Amino acid sequence: MKTHAAILWDVHQDWQVEEIDLDPPKAYEVLVKWHAGGLCHSDEHLVTGDMALSLETTRSMGLPDMFPVIGGHEGAGVVLEVGPGVTTVQPGDHVAASFFPACGRCRYCITGQSNLCDMGAQTFGFGQISDGTSRHHLGDQDLSIMAKVGTFAEHGVVHENSLVKVDPDVPLTAVALVSCGVTTGWGSAIHRAEVKPGETVVVVGIGGIGINAVQGARMASALNIVAVDPVEFKQKAALDLGATHVAASMAEALPLVTELTRGQLADSVILTPGVLYGDLLGQALSLTGKGGTCVVTAIAPMTQTEASINLFELAMWQKEVRGVIFGAGNPRFDIPNLLALYKSGQLKLDELITTTYRLDQINQGYQDMRDGKNIRGVLVMD
Ligand SMILES: NC(=O)c1ccc[n+]([C@@H]2O[C@H](COP(=O)([O-])OP(=O)(O)OC[C@H]3O[C@@H](n4cnc5c(N)ncnc54)[C@H](O)[C@@H]3O)[C@@H](O)[C@H]2O)c1
Ligand SMILES: [Zn+2]
Ligand SMILES: [Zn+2]
Repeated sequence: MKTHAAILWDVHQDWQVEEIDLDPPKAYEVLVKWHAGGLCHSDEHLVTGDMALSLETTRSMGLPDMFPVIGGHEGAGVVLEVGPGVTTVQPGDHVAASFFPACGRCRYCITGQSNLCDMGAQTFGFGQISDGTSRHHLGDQDLSIMAKVGTFAEHGVVHENSLVKVDPDVPLTAVALVSCGVTTGWGSAIHRAEVKPGETVVVVGIGGIGINAVQGARMASALNIVAVDPVEFKQKAALDLGATHVAASMAEALPLVTELTRGQLADSVILTPGVLYGDLLGQALSLTGKGGTCVVTAIAPMTQTEASINLFELAMWQKEVRGVIFGAGNPRFDIPNLLALYKSGQLKLDELITTTYRLDQINQGYQDMRDGKNIRGVLVMD
């Protein structure tokens, strides 16, 4: 069939919306009509080359090409057709994309860590999970799909393990947010920082991820939730959704957190800026108190290997640095669980969507993200 998708042809380019050819689903694959695609910063890391090698680099190193790729790993849609062997969804089901597949069988899945599923090993490789070939084409050119989902498209074919069935009475824009940003931010606070009632939490960077770390800390009854972002509109959004204090930078937050905690400093600092650089880790650990945890959620450029931190304090203050992917959540549990909290009114989702865009407005959507105008922008492909 013919459909439309936003394609990135190489690093440092704009997204190009093209009419593409889509093959029918093969074994264990599903044809999805995508209705909503969230503009997460992780796709921007493909554009900047933080998380992607240019065609020139892959070719000079004899590696397989990463481009062209259909973007989008945050999204939601409706199942139109299933291939042979599919058992977990059927036509008409509403689904969230899961940017990490969950096979349900590997060592990580069976020990409750399906965000680390072995099937994710091919996330940034070319082609489908099942056989490495492509179902998405532009003329003779095969197209890859971001994180094996590619939600910046009207339709796509994905492996059933990359989909989580959800209740049909939840708006698909809300489902899309939960498929990455909400679960990642909320889980950074709940699963990784393990926030407890009465604690002091600092969240650094209030985008689609950080705002949900704020919501997670609020739901865990943190006493002080300090939201750090240079953009005033982000600070206001954080206060609306549970932050108790705001600061424009970590340097500005330090005297505030010192005063709030009578010098004990934060129980946890959650790093969710658009891009992580080494100097931010040192600053975050300076805000982290004795026995405290610094959670690293934001993605750094692949080549970033240096961070300057006080190693003496790391041991003597018994601090912990914890990386996290997908909020350390299990997609098949956490996505429906968060949607149930949304339905009950405890988790805010509609309030996170600042602007919706059509697929052909995707470059405007990312420009608005870069300009600090959106908590989350969402593509709507109705
Ligand atoms: N670990 C994971 O599983 C995972 C999943 C999704 C996204 N991410 C990453 O999380 C990060 C945040 O994503 P997003 O979509 O919320 O991004 P975003 O661009 O929407 O928001 C980032 C915010 O950080 C603020 N910021 C930038 N530098 C800052 C600094 N030094 N101090 C304070 N605030 C600062 C910006 O003003 C902006 O409001 C990205 O790196 C993204 O790739 C990680
Ligand atoms: Zn994301
Ligand atoms: Zn697995």
